[in-house]
Amino acid sequence: MTETIRIELGARSYDVHVGPGALATGLKRLQGGKRRFALVIDENVLACQSDRISQMCLALDIVGDPVIIPAGEGAKSFRQLEELSSALLSMELERGDAIIAVGGGVTGDLAGFAAAIYKRGIDVIQVPTTLLSMVDSSVGGKTAINTSQGKNLIGVFHQPARVIADTGFLETLPRREILAGYAEILKAALIGDADLFKQLETAGANSISAGRIPELIAGAVRFKASIVAADEREAGSRALLNLGHTFGHALESEADGKLLHGEAVAAGLALAFDYSVRQNLCPAEDATKVKRHLDDIGLEYGLPRLRGAPFTAKAMLDRMRHDKKTSGGHIRLILARGIGDAFIHDQTDMSDLLTFLKDKIQ
Ligand SMILES: NC(=O)c1ccc[n+]([C@@H]2O[C@H](COP(=O)([O-])OP(=O)(O)OC[C@H]3O[C@@H](n4cnc5c(N)ncnc54)[C@H](O)[C@@H]3O)[C@@H](O)[C@H]2O)c1
Repeated sequence: MTETIRIELGARSYDVHVGPGALATGLKRLQGGKRRFALVIDENVLACQSDRISQMCLALDIVGDPVIIPAGEGAKSFRQLEELSSALLSMELERGDAIIAVGGGVTGDLAGFAAAIYKRGIDVIQVPTTLLSMVDSSVGGKTAINTSQGKNLIGVFHQPARVIADTGFLETLPRREILAGYAEILKAALIGDADLFKQLETAGANSISAGRIPELIAGAVRFKASIVAADEREAGSRALLNLGHTFGHALESEADGKLLHGEAVAAGLALAFDYSVRQNLCPAEDATKVKRHLDDIGLEYGLPRLRGAPFTAKAMLDRMRHDKKTSGGHIRLILARGIGDAFIHDQTDMSDLLTFLKDKIQ
């Protein structure tokens, strides 16, 4: 069964198909017309999802061979962007053609960026294959690559023309990646849906059972759709989606590849709640509930025990300063008044934050 969720963005509106039959539904909508497609695909997905890749190749007019993106965050680089752009040029893709990005957030962010700048912009169809990319990165139009200064610092907004989130792809996704993706679902609940958090809390470890996943994805996409529709370019409320991310990006960069994005976000969520409690903004009980749920799920948040530890407070603060969410010398943090009630906090005191990080690292 497939659910279709509309992202309402005026002329840039598009459909997100979610569920076990989403690929068939999405491909049907792409058929017809003279459009050609370039298939850009993560190397692991190519290796373990041959049936679904064949399904795409049979249904659509695919130009040339698929462009294979090496697995891992390292692919979000200028070098890979250049290679991909050059491959697209060799295919003589035209303005009316489109890219199909098949993979996790890495492939989606890279291919989305390439689509935005190729001949001043062509369509990209996102086919997310990780839980994280289904609930978060494939929807909303943020594309980016990384530099040595930090993650996602070079990029543009480029909304996809369609998103096909077929949960069948998750059959081959390692458990660690499923857990990391779950962190972004939990994030949505913590930002604005206390009832969803209650359901997740009650289900505990069963929250991630295969049977529940399509509904969880659809719920997270609906939540993201409402935020993106209200603030497409993050002039205001969309920044709420960064709950846990300023801490998380610092950890992810410092861990130098040992920590997955979602794992860093999970620890970032715990830090955001703990810091909110420390600022007397949030009841301590709510931070405790968040951390208890992370324990139930099996997502680590204790900084000394995280992959990539030990971290230093000063290095983390430096990373946070360089994060693109810094403005006017202040670090913008998304904090919480409670579960389901996140808000934007622009005036974070650096020395206080440093002391907090030192306490957490011990
Ligand atoms: N654009 C946005 O709004 C946004 C939002 C959140 C995260 N992101 C970005 O997303 C990236 C993380 O994405 P991710 O967690 O999907 O990681 P990823 O793309 O690196 O994929 C994770 C791993 O899973 C493998 N894989 C993917 N699909 C598979 C499948 N179906 N079966 C087996 N293996 C599979 C990949 O090869 C890779 O090794 C980060 O770069 C992050 O910055 C972007």
